[in-house]
Amino acid sequence: MLTQVRTQAADFVHAAIIRNFSLASWSKSALEAALEVPKKLEHGHLALPVFPLAKEMKRAPPLIAKELSEALANADDEFRKRAIVSVLPAGGFVNITFSDEYLQNVLLAAVKDETSIGKSKLGAGKTLVIDYSSPNVAKPMHIGHLRATVIGQAIRNLGETQGYNVIGLNHLGDWGVQFGKLAWAFMEWGKEYDFANKPFESLFAMYVRFHDEAEKDKELDAKGSAVFKKLENGDPQVTAIWKNFVEISMKEYGRLWGLLGVKHDLVRGESFYNDRLKSVEQLLEKKGLLEESEGAMVVRLGDEMPPCLIRKSDGASLYATRDLASAIYRHEELKADLNLYLVGVDQTLHFKQVFKVLEKMGFEWAKNCHHIAFGMYRFPEGKMSTRKGRAIFLEDVVSQGIEMVRKVIAEKNPNLENKELIAEQVGIGAIIFNDLAVDRVRDVEFNWEKALSFEGDSGPYVQYTHVRCLSLVRKYGKPAPTSFAKTLTETEERELVRLLMSYQDVLAASFTTFRPNILAQYLLEVCGAFSRFYNKHRILGEAPDVESSRMALVETTRRILAAGLKTLNIQAPVAM
Ligand code: ARG
Repeated sequence: MLTQVRTQAADFVHAAIIRNFSLASWSKSALEAALEVPKKLEHGHLALPVFPLAKEMKRAPPLIAKELSEALANADDEFRKRAIVSVLPAGGFVNITFSDEYLQNVLLAAVKDETSIGKSKLGAGKTLVIDYSSPNVAKPMHIGHLRATVIGQAIRNLGETQGYNVIGLNHLGDWGVQFGKLAWAFMEWGKEYDFANKPFESLFAMYVRFHDEAEKDKELDAKGSAVFKKLENGDPQVTAIWKNFVEISMKEYGRLWGLLGVKHDLVRGESFYNDRLKSVEQLLEKKGLLEESEGAMVVRLGDEMPPCLIRKSDGASLYATRDLASAIYRHEELKADLNLYLVGVDQTLHFKQVFKVLEKMGFEWAKNCHHIAFGMYRFPEGKMSTRKGRAIFLEDVVSQGIEMVRKVIAEKNPNLENKELIAEQVGIGAIIFNDLAVDRVRDVEFNWEKALSFEGDSGPYVQYTHVRCLSLVRKYGKPAPTSFAKTLTETEERELVRLLMSYQDVLAASFTTFRPNILAQYLLEVCGAFSRFYNKHRILGEAPDVESSRMALVETTRRILAAGLKTLNIQAPVAM
């Protein structure tokens, strides 16, 4: 329910409690937070559980609910007269129903400024650092990175709706012994590849080749390690080669991010922390946490989990050490109030260890670090073509999605304007929505038919509903009405209004639980409620006051769908 309604209702109920029960211990804000939105419209628009009150007065909740309802229903109060039609007890709850006129006016006012729909100030003055879609240099992003990318970008957008200052971080995997190996390969074999025209393909091909050959030739790994030593010591030639790898890779990722509409604010690759690792080790040492184990340095973490490896016996630093340095950087320099890591569930232990070490170091802020894990993709056997057999590359999935939509358009709507742009928006929207609609901790089934269906629970279905609203507005031919000429009272209209009123709650819940699927599922519900309204009632051609009021509802629906899609980083095409 819109904050405004909730706050006004809380003010009203709070005053009545003081008046009738002479109790002031239930604070207005606690009361406001306790107000629930009932599942069904029959139970009103808001329900207040009276249990805290009953407890304090040492009386049965239903009794209190009854007394309070009566007091509220008869209150000589301007807000009650204007906005409330009924207050009824139901068990230990007080159910409040607002007048349709009041709600519809509040709703319309709330969508007036399209850029601020549903926003709140939960995170005002706070910084959210979010690490997402952080691929590994020289390797194509695979399907697992799709989740790290789209869930990350959605949570980032959600954070912005809550007023956070958001810093999107690319923790690029740009350091480690593999770059010594790759640099060795480049010096040895580089000329055999077409780096001028196909830089990224060449890089990856070389990477695969090195690993194949290293299986046969046991010397290769040692050669690679030796080159990595040089890189660590700042050898200019190797450094230049490595920099080139990073550049080539970033260009490639940039293309995909561009297609998916993903934007980071900062690239802080693993190499960024190189000159901070010493001080992390020193700090661990000083706190007496560093121990030697078979030549390596570790932090022991008790029986719960294996020790965290800080430095290998050959002196090389590790992924975990860099993550420690990075967490400290995010706290100290980026001033993170909340630090999120969007990484697959397979790295759960890694993050548990890192956060535990931070805690042992005495960093109270370690509790603000969260690994936002997600499940894997599952593919029905044989349904997805892959380039190299094993891994499924993100690029292939994206181009296949666009291609499939192109075909549908050619078949069903060949005269559509801007076909190519729309194929992109719908194909990519389908992929993103298919991912986000599932609770992130669960695995996602990849099924093109379902993802691309215009009728099912899919991105294209939401986009299509948006287009339907838009075409009604176009046919209406005038600017969408900014007020309700007539209050809408049909069941389908009231249901739709009620649902649209909860957009702000949905954004907040989606953010605080880091679950974009809450928003995705909500948008599907809105589409369903809109269809029921649209199928049952005529809009254009009705009496002018009905027509214009229904159009106000259509436009409100459209704005909320557009805002919701945008938050999920999905485009809203203007035609389909
Ligand atoms: N580069 C890693 C991968 O692709 C993900 C990095 C996640 N972020 C982090 N701070 N460890 O698996």
